[in-house]
Amino acid sequence: MSAPSMTLYYNAASPFARKVLILLHETGQTGRVSLKPVNVTPVNPHTDLCHENPAGKIPALCLADNNVIHDSRVILDYLDRQHVGNPLIPNEGSARWRRLTLASLADAVLDAAVLIRYETFLRPEEKRWTEWLDNQHEKIARSLAYFEAEAVTELSSHFDIASISLASALGYLDFRQPNLGWRSSYPRLANWYYEVSQRPSMLETQPPA
Ligand code: BEZ
Repeated sequence: MSAPSMTLYYNAASPFARKVLILLHETGQTGRVSLKPVNVTPVNPHTDLCHENPAGKIPALCLADNNVIHDSRVILDYLDRQHVGNPLIPNEGSARWRRLTLASLADAVLDAAVLIRYETFLRPEEKRWTEWLDNQHEKIARSLAYFEAEAVTELSSHFDIASISLASALGYLDFRQPNLGWRSSYPRLANWYYEVSQRPSMLETQPPA
């Protein structure tokens, strides 16, 4: 096998980076990317990463020609065009917009969950904003209720951009909010997640213990 031609700046705890890793596994492209772990938070920027991505955020993908692609959605779109299997982002038609919209809602869960992590882990306790935190939790609850009521059957049809994004989001909730108890409120989602969690791409990319 030839040497990897791309480098992914990532962190094993990042659910956004996990989406990229899952797609690499699902599309047989893991050998094309070398992984560069970085520790980065909003108050602890990483010098090399900031050079590649001025926003200082992971994931960022450095291509063979030294161009850099960043934001997990853009990276997923790029990598999905680099393999010959069925696309994980539908090319056209209503399926494209529906699946991208579900992926976007899953990303909103991720955004809220990561912001909660920053607020409860990084921000000094005396400065925490309870009302703001409550609203992030409510955003997660509304979104999961939508997936439970409106989207589980669709999600079960195939494992694609929407499924990858939601599976990463639920995995991150289990990782950072293990006492949330979302499974009892959303049992259909819990069954779906149990099934997809057995996929090699999910098992190989689990957040650190
Ligand atoms: C985390 O440790 O929860 C985390 C790490 C990187 C990006 C986002 C979240």
